[in-house]
Amino acid sequence: MEWKGMDVVEKPFNSIWGSLARPSWAVILLVLTVMGVSWLQMSTKTVSPIWVSSSNEESAFSIDPRRSCSGFFEMGPPRKVVMSIADFGGVGDGKTSNTDAFRRAVEHLKGFGDKGGSQLNVPEGKWVTGSFNITSNFTLFLEKGAVILGSQDPKEWPVIQPLPSYGRGRERLGGRHISLIHGDALTDVVITGQNGSIDGQGRMWWELWWNRTLEHTRGHLLELMNSHNILISNLTFLNSPFWTIHPIYCSNVVIKGVTILAPLHSPNTDGIDPDSSSQVCIEDCYIESGDDLVAVKSGWDQYGIAMARPSTNIIVRRVSGTTPTCSGVGIGSEMSGGISNVLVEDLHVRNSAAGVRVKTDKGRGGYITNVTITNLTMENVKIPIRFSRGSNDHPDEGWDPRALPLVKGIFFNNVVGVDIRQAPVLEALEGAPYEGICLTNICLDGIPPPATWQCEFVTGDAVGVSPMPCPQLHSNGSSTWCLPS
Ligand SMILES: *[C@@H]1O[C@H](CO)[C@@H](O)[C@H](O)[C@H]1NC(C)=O
Ligand SMILES: *[C@@H]1O[C@H](CO)[C@@H](O)[C@H](O)[C@H]1NC(C)=O
Ligand SMILES: *[C@@H]1O[C@H](CO)[C@@H](O)[C@H](O)[C@H]1NC(C)=O
Ligand SMILES: *[C@@H]1O[C@H](CO)[C@@H](O)[C@H](O)[C@H]1NC(C)=O
Ligand SMILES: *[C@@H]1O[C@H](CO)[C@@H](O)[C@H](O)[C@H]1NC(C)=O
Ligand SMILES: *[C@@H]1O[C@H](CO)[C@@H](O)[C@H](O)[C@H]1NC(C)=O
Ligand SMILES: *[C@@H]1O[C@H](CO)[C@@H](O)[C@H](O)[C@H]1NC(C)=O
Ligand SMILES: *[C@@H]1O[C@H](CO)[C@@H](O)[C@H](O)[C@H]1NC(C)=O
Repeated sequence: MEWKGMDVVEKPFNSIWGSLARPSWAVILLVLTVMGVSWLQMSTKTVSPIWVSSSNEESAFSIDPRRSCSGFFEMGPPRKVVMSIADFGGVGDGKTSNTDAFRRAVEHLKGFGDKGGSQLNVPEGKWVTGSFNITSNFTLFLEKGAVILGSQDPKEWPVIQPLPSYGRGRERLGGRHISLIHGDALTDVVITGQNGSIDGQGRMWWELWWNRTLEHTRGHLLELMNSHNILISNLTFLNSPFWTIHPIYCSNVVIKGVTILAPLHSPNTDGIDPDSSSQVCIEDCYIESGDDLVAVKSGWDQYGIAMARPSTNIIVRRVSGTTPTCSGVGIGSEMSGGISNVLVEDLHVRNSAAGVRVKTDKGRGGYITNVTITNLTMENVKIPIRFSRGSNDHPDEGWDPRALPLVKGIFFNNVVGVDIRQAPVLEALEGAPYEGICLTNICLDGIPPPATWQCEFVTGDAVGVSPMPCPQLHSNGSSTWCLPS
């Protein structure tokens, strides 16, 4: 692909200024205008410095509660018992297996769940391990220079039941490999540290996928199921076998200050996939991977419809990164339990296939409603805004072709793109048009003429959008519901 040769290594949170290769003055002016307008709006709001309740710790987290994950996670008092993996016979030499040490450590610390909670420290070193489960009222803390390495023995990633909202493993029928770090039915979990890393060493799994010898669906690097009040922060996640961080059937999840890296062509190494979860806030993350940086999901076809567990109240803020074959933020394609109230703010996508992509299909059912994308910046992106359909990817023969998704209320506001390769592609399903698409204050630069948008089965309005959108979105200037904000 044409952007393959580009320099894709970047420090997190680079401003668009540092990374623009050949900015035109028109674009700079536009960016200034967008920021100026938003800043004026922001500065008229009052700012109160609240982040978490009852925390003794100093916090450098953002101070405006409307612009931070405030309220999504409740930090309790420090844990009563703090131990090190070395106390359980762990050896951080990069060779010795620590699977038993981690499992024994968690088993022991579980006993303090109702006695003030516990913290397991992982000191500097390389700690090889197979999959282990964590527990409630628990902190996993990776000190500076600590690296957890995923075992290269597939038997150390045992096969567990498929997820009920998927009915089978996502890639193969039947069960699926458990994640490296796994939790089910937990409350109050913190996974953090001084930017230590969790490296899935996924290459073995990618090769099994590439050479078609994978027997069961690959495991995630971190999966939490049916859990509540979770904080994942200040860590680096590397080389996940499959999706990197997967909260499913969870509520009140904060993922903040996390770096996720996987080779740009590694298969399905999504960054963060909130799935059938509510109150999820993802902030200040840098992600570079072979699939969507963030993908909001809610189950697959008839299994997702039956479970009816939506993803709702999801915030993605100040996330940046690169994915040469996928999108910055993806909504779907598994969305059968419904997706609503998604806010994506200050997303910066570069050298990628798509900025934001909404994916559905026949058989999915469910809904996608009230999605707002604001202050999106893109550089060297193939298709900046994309709605797509019909990947023909179903769990089994039992899917219902009459189950069509309802998509209504998708707002894009303050979007700037430079070096964009193609006009937006907005293709919905016949018989299930996407309604209430509202595009305001959008400038996409670099698209070769005629820069024609591809639109099918969409309706809505567009105000201040360049290049000229498709007729389905032509506002006559009297729209009352789609206004630049
Ligand atoms: C994460 O890092 C920031 C910045 O160093 C720090 O202020 C914060 O307390 C850290 N801890 C957690 C739990 O995120
Ligand atoms: C976690 O701690 C809270 C008190 O902070 C307690 O009420 C709860 O039972 C504990 N949970 C477990 C699973 O021990
Ligand atoms: C971890 O939890 C899962 C259920 O979520 C269970 O199937 C598995 O056996 C547990 N693994 C260990 C090592 O306890
Ligand atoms: C954390 O480590 C990663 C990988 O080494 C690095 O890219 C990132 O800049 C570090 N983050 C912080 C906040 O130091
Ligand atoms: C497929 O990849 C795995 C993991 O690297 C390797 O062990 C296996 O020998 C490969 N199989 C074939 C048929 O190439
Ligand atoms: C739409 O979602 C936003 C969050 O992005 C939320 O604040 C708002 O209340 C939602 N609107 C409705 C009608 O639910
Ligand atoms: C908009 O996004 C850019 C680039 O991510 C960021 O630098 C800027 O602060 C954002 N502006 C506002 C008003 O949030
Ligand atoms: C503009 O469009 C709205 C709704 O799409 C319609 O009600 C109104 O009559 C139109 N106004 C003109 C002047 O065409």
